[in-house]
Amino acid sequence: MEAPSPPPANDLDQSQLLRYVQDMHQLRKQREQAYQRLAHAHRITLSKLALAAEYKDGDTGAHIERIGALSGAIAKALGQPAEWCELIAQSAPMHDVGKIGIPDDILKKPGPLTTDERRIMETHSLIGAQILGGTDVPVLRMAAEIALGHHERWNGTGYPSGLRALEIPLCARIVAVADFLDALMMDRCYRPALGEDEVLALIKAGRGSHFDPAIVDVAVTLFPQLVALRKRIDQRTAAEQLDGAAATPSQ
Ligand SMILES: [Fe+2]
Ligand SMILES: [Fe+2]
Repeated sequence: MEAPSPPPANDLDQSQLLRYVQDMHQLRKQREQAYQRLAHAHRITLSKLALAAEYKDGDTGAHIERIGALSGAIAKALGQPAEWCELIAQSAPMHDVGKIGIPDDILKKPGPLTTDERRIMETHSLIGAQILGGTDVPVLRMAAEIALGHHERWNGTGYPSGLRALEIPLCARIVAVADFLDALMMDRCYRPALGEDEVLALIKAGRGSHFDPAIVDVAVTLFPQLVALRKRIDQRTAAEQLDGAAATPSQ
């Protein structure tokens, strides 16, 4: 919609002026609505991309939603700016997009992986970075950094590059802790979910070896809130799934 031209000043009367102001107001409202719709579509598209990998992994999508929320909460507690926290909350769900490129017999193997299988599995971080990288879109740039770096370890024993400490991007260091916490609290095909005390002990045990000590300190302090956040997301996604099932016409 074209912006209406203002009437010449000398011709202005009250009703024309009022109409002009109303048109401007309407135009601004339409632009704002179009922007909101576009931003919403952008967010949904990114979460669907993350879901594609998670679906292959046998999850329902709750894990990726929790990873976004947990990473955002940890970033906020670390004192990162609000915009950065929003960016990591949107990027973190894509951390395992590279699993799209891993064969099912390795990805879904119920027992331990052989050395060769593990090597193939570990390529998911590089594949993810290739899928997400090479754009100037901030959320995808951060998502590519996370995909590449979320299995690096503070002490340099991680993969794919063996980066250590602050060489690992902050976003990837945060997601490493959020992913570890959330994955341990989930039932997996090879083990049941661990209890809260056990998870907390394992996070503390990784301080300074697997994980950034500063991020572990924040996650430990925040642990009850992170657990509550997980539960809220699970309740919401379960309710959404019920609504979705009720809305799906039977065959
Ligand atoms: Fe991963
Ligand atoms: Fe994960």
